[in-house]
Amino acid sequence: MTESALDTITVSVWRGNAQQGDFEDFEVPQQPSQTILDVITWIQRHLDASLSYRFACRVGMCGSCAMMVNGIPRWTCRTHVNKVMQDNRLRIEPLRNLPLIKDLACDMSEFFEKWQRAEGRFEGGQSRHEAVAPISPQSPERIRANAAIECINCAICYAACDVVSWNPDYLGPAALNRAWSLQNDVRDRRHAERLRAVSADGGCLSCHSQQGCASYCPNELNPTASIA
Ligand code: FES
Repeated sequence: MTESALDTITVSVWRGNAQQGDFEDFEVPQQPSQTILDVITWIQRHLDASLSYRFACRVGMCGSCAMMVNGIPRWTCRTHVNKVMQDNRLRIEPLRNLPLIKDLACDMSEFFEKWQRAEGRFEGGQSRHEAVAPISPQSPERIRANAAIECINCAICYAACDVVSWNPDYLGPAALNRAWSLQNDVRDRRHAERLRAVSADGGCLSCHSQQGCASYCPNELNPTASIA
């Protein structure tokens, strides 16, 4: 391989909307410690300002930058190019299993609507005038909640899940993992309603334990264990 070929990356990026589209190739200069999000941002700033994608924090906190990178769902702001590049090429696509808006930006509505269906919101029973509930870090409930609580809503597990592909009604790993963390929150008052929600059609019993969610979660959570 020539020296100049090593200096650039050929990046195939999905362009288009839900009705039609294709991959478009871009040549991007290689940089030390470059992330996939750096590559996409470079294309948007230097080659095609109309490229649509989503990000916010750039440090792995907000969960908005996930895309398919060489066929694997990843958080692009924390994925280094030199760890995933194959033969100096990258293929970047929108997240699987979500409706496409344009280019790399998906519609997250159904993902978050499923959180609502899984009763994935906290509902406490105390007012702001009462003392803060004491929760021992050593309590079994708190330890169980801790194991599931660091979800950043990136939808990588949702994109990785084949059951979501087969069954559009399936609530998916993120919503069910959230339900599990709330079931272990002793301050929450909706345990019975949530159990009913996650036991219904499309709930926990739809999981096939394939563990794609656990394999690709960037925060190393295990939604399959939460569902079990
Ligand atoms: Fe926030 Fe990547 S931009 S997690």
